[in-house]
Amino acid sequence: MANVLHMNGSLEETSYAMNSLLQRKGILRTLPITKKTVAELMCNSRFPEGRLAMADLGCASGPNTLLLVSEMIKVVHKLYGELGQDCPELQIFLNDLPGNDFNHVFTSIQGFKENMKKEMGAQAFIAGVPGSFYDRLFPTHSLHFIHSSYSLQWRSQVPQGLEENKGNIYLASSSPPCVLEAYYRQFQVDISSFLKFRAQELVTGGRMVLTLPGRRGEGSSEKECCYIWELMSIALKQMTSEGLIDQQKLDSFNLPMYMPSAMEVEVEVQKQGSFAIEHLELWDMNWDAYEGEVMSLPAGDGGYQLSKCMEAVFGPVIAHHFDSSREIIDEVFRRYGLLLSDWMAKESPTLVSLTVSLTKRH
Ligand SMILES: C[S@@+](CC[C@H](N)C(=O)[O-])C[C@H]1O[C@@H](n2cnc3c(N)ncnc32)[C@H](O)[C@@H]1O
Repeated sequence: MANVLHMNGSLEETSYAMNSLLQRKGILRTLPITKKTVAELMCNSRFPEGRLAMADLGCASGPNTLLLVSEMIKVVHKLYGELGQDCPELQIFLNDLPGNDFNHVFTSIQGFKENMKKEMGAQAFIAGVPGSFYDRLFPTHSLHFIHSSYSLQWRSQVPQGLEENKGNIYLASSSPPCVLEAYYRQFQVDISSFLKFRAQELVTGGRMVLTLPGRRGEGSSEKECCYIWELMSIALKQMTSEGLIDQQKLDSFNLPMYMPSAMEVEVEVQKQGSFAIEHLELWDMNWDAYEGEVMSLPAGDGGYQLSKCMEAVFGPVIAHHFDSSREIIDEVFRRYGLLLSDWMAKESPTLVSLTVSLTKRH
């Protein structure tokens, strides 16, 4: 996955930068938790080297990347301003897989830094760190705060043992129990590596805020949460029956992700043992990112917008697996958009998210 996965880059119509309002809303919704966590870190920690190091893991490219960075800089500056103390030097690392459009991120950094300096006299040293967060990324005890938003649902690989999931591309109502178990096992392996490596990289008392899509309940009764991917498989199946997509490729396609329940996250954190959970919250927002926005869309367009968001995220993985042209991928998502519009007109489906704030013990 580390070599394949990336969001659609640049600023074109199907790019992540242009289609990530949903994730932006998620970052804004969890901002109070992020700010509170950073404030607690400031109160409880000393920075003897005069340096405060933070990382955003799975930063992607686009407005969300620098939104989070600017909020982290603002909260630290405000707190130190209130204390009448000099702010430590801020070092901010932006991590993603090597295929991420880091060029786009880097070209925005200069102007961003100038604005931060002008607006609040803040100086930050920002660097990109390509690599998988299921490996070591930073030197031992070099970080104070880690943030990650809508990235930890991705698995490091497609789980083994999904042969019986034919006809589905992720967990679905017709998936046998062994499929849920295979996905869950892969989640356990990945999250325990993630926690182990972050524990090595954070100082004692260091903090993390992680947000990822989640599920409300346990076990297979909760497969309804995955209906949105059942619709994607319907679009793919339609195209297979018309000979536009290879049947064997569809049979062997499974999305490398997993949305855990709160309990599943809690169990893994406790098992790994390096972190204390300070706050764990499940919350939801409408899949229609434009719901409640001033610039609301004509009825039915929510599905079209959501399908563009899904194309920005899943398009590259699908194109790689099916070895498909841009036209075929656009057609998959055109059909998916129609199915989504229909679904969203009948229901008001929500994306369940899970946010956890953690402290590194010792
Ligand atoms: C949906 S985007 C979220 C981006 C941004 N945090 C936001 O909230 O808008 C998920 C990002 O996680 C990255 N990602 C997935 N697996 C990763 C891994 N193992 N290591 C680093 N980044 C990863 C993807 O490349 C992608 O850019």
